[in-house]
Amino acid sequence: MSHPLTLDLTGLTAAVLGEHGPTDADIAAFAPAAREARANILARRDQGELGFFGLPDDRATARACLDYARALPPAVDTMVVLGIGGSSLGPRALYSALAPALDPLRPRSPGMPRRLLFPDNADPVTMRAILELCDPERTVWNVVTKSGGTAETAAQLLVVAEHLERKLGARAKDHIVATTDPERGALRATAAARGWKTFDIPASVGGRFSVLTAVGLLPAAVAGLDVVGLLDGARAMRDRCLGEDPASNPALLLASLLHHHHVVRGRPMVVLMAYVDALFDTADWFRQLWAESLGKEKSTDGRVVETGPTPIAARGATDQHSQLQLYVEGPRDKVVLMLTARQRETEVVIPDGELTRSRDEYRYLGDRGMGVLLDAELRGTIGSLTNRRRPVGTIELARVDAPSLGALLVLLECATAYAGPLYGVDPFDQPGVEEAKRLAYAALGRAGFEAKDLPPIVGEGRYVL
Ligand code: PA5
Repeated sequence: MSHPLTLDLTGLTAAVLGEHGPTDADIAAFAPAAREARANILARRDQGELGFFGLPDDRATARACLDYARALPPAVDTMVVLGIGGSSLGPRALYSALAPALDPLRPRSPGMPRRLLFPDNADPVTMRAILELCDPERTVWNVVTKSGGTAETAAQLLVVAEHLERKLGARAKDHIVATTDPERGALRATAAARGWKTFDIPASVGGRFSVLTAVGLLPAAVAGLDVVGLLDGARAMRDRCLGEDPASNPALLLASLLHHHHVVRGRPMVVLMAYVDALFDTADWFRQLWAESLGKEKSTDGRVVETGPTPIAARGATDQHSQLQLYVEGPRDKVVLMLTARQRETEVVIPDGELTRSRDEYRYLGDRGMGVLLDAELRGTIGSLTNRRRPVGTIELARVDAPSLGALLVLLECATAYAGPLYGVDPFDQPGVEEAKRLAYAALGRAGFEAKDLPPIVGEGRYVL
């Protein structure tokens, strides 16, 4: 049966790595732990804790997002997503993968799919530029925060709301749409008071697992992306990732092999290297998912473990000329996962003209596609890694379309969920992030968040030069 996504993990095993990778017997030996991890996660799902498993079935939210997009005035040509972390990385990954390349630069005409912008951060320089460049009449602002009160997002919202109320008066409310917890948090209350349209993030879905809620689907619908295809692909992969046997459950096998390479073979780094520009932001989304879910001080039974793998997002062929030297010859502390597409959306053929034929350094490129070049670079990179017995796997999408992307996102979400119990940690909390949030509130003097001795950005010690 052909799937929109193929996962090839042979390069993570002894079949390719010899003594540097697990044999079939080793893999059979860690199957019981994998089964236990799956049972642990599915028990939590069955108790209603892990809503992300059910999102591919939620067609009502997709319909509501599409209805919102259809009802936008034709003059609106831009949506700015105000959010950070899981409230921004998911929709950005969808947009980068599925919208036409360099979409924000394309000229707009009324009724076209809208361009999306993701300021992400609270950097005043970016914010000033966005306020200057986005015509208030032609822009809607989607403020996204699960908790409702994250400082960076609250700051963006407060600046934008005041700006719009000054420019548009009472019509400002038609240009803000809030995506947040159904009941709790400052944004829910503010939206109700101001009359802003709202979408829900289900209480049982955490920020970094929220890409298939309205967090991702609303901006995707506004940008004209295929949200139904996304959910179809996600559902098919979700079903593949529920099986008990790691040999046929791609998420369970991926989680088990990455965990094995970390704890048994000392390889805590996972490089997700996209050989399709459109998928680089998906690698960046994964960087948050894997890091924030698995990097933990304490195990689920309360021991101090200070564990967790380090994900790295890379771009091929670009990072062959930046990072690959380290991956090929540096410490044996990495697993590389290639992310590619069997069929590229378009091809640019290198002309076989006089200039190309004029030199040996050019001649071999004549009549070849740039995609063919990129695939050759990918094969070269895989070859250079496997020649040195460095673990490398491949995730190949049939093509970069909505069903394949939905499958990829769910594969990585399920692998992250299953990796949690393998590491002995809860993949669904983030106490370290919460602590940084609390200390930042204290630095700003927010009531109820006092902290003593917050370090200055630059101190006065002996080694300050
Ligand atoms: O995954 C997470 O929970 C975090 O990365 C959050 O998405 C991030 O901190 C933003 O939080 P919120 O959506 O509550 O503003």
